[in-house]
Amino acid sequence: MDGTAGTGKSSVGMLAAKELGYDFLSTGEMYRALGYKTIEKKIAVDDVQKVTEIAKNIKFTFERGTDASLKMFVDGEYLGNKLHSEKVGEAASKTSAIPSARAVLTDKMREIGRGGGIIMEGRDIGTVVFPDAEIKFYIDATPEERAKRRFNQLIQRGEKADYETILECIRARDLRDSTRTVAPLKPAEDAFIIDTSSMALEQVVEHILSVIKEKI
Ligand code: C5P
Repeated sequence: MDGTAGTGKSSVGMLAAKELGYDFLSTGEMYRALGYKTIEKKIAVDDVQKVTEIAKNIKFTFERGTDASLKMFVDGEYLGNKLHSEKVGEAASKTSAIPSARAVLTDKMREIGRGGGIIMEGRDIGTVVFPDAEIKFYIDATPEERAKRRFNQLIQRGEKADYETILECIRARDLRDSTRTVAPLKPAEDAFIIDTSSMALEQVVEHILSVIKEKI
């Protein structure tokens, strides 16, 4: 399952995986862990050699929780919300543009998904990581709708938010993810494309499950 940032694809993937008895993994978490470690070690996000070295040395372990998602431990530590700040998101987006670092994380993802029975979500899962995946989805929504959802989420949490700034960040991230030279964000040729701009979460889950049940 691939798609732009902020489409709700993690929530959708997790609910669908739960329904199917599959595992769910958001691979953005792995890139975020790489961004986090880069910041922690005070390394420049464009230092190819050092960032790749960090990627090689990160040890990911997973635990299946009560929901379908695999809880990720980075070098034995659960980083939770620390991975979800704007700063870490930015660092993840920049370090993930380094081909040699991507190659390392891609290998780790293949190892995790080797046995199947998993919904894996990211930017290049259907195009690069698992080009032979049984079913591929590409989830999208307009930048304005994604910014609106993110804005509402922050306000609900009692945090400060500015719609225009959020929209600008979303556009910048889309551009960076889709124009990088290696594994740019794009739908796989055989992916089912779903525009969720005017769909509720439950509708998207229902739609995905019906496609899966029809195909398997
Ligand atoms: O999905 P999420 O927003 O958590 O991902 C963080 C960043 O990691 C993205 O902006 C993207 O640059 C990168 N990413 C990637 N390939 C993936 C998953 C995430 O490049 N498969």
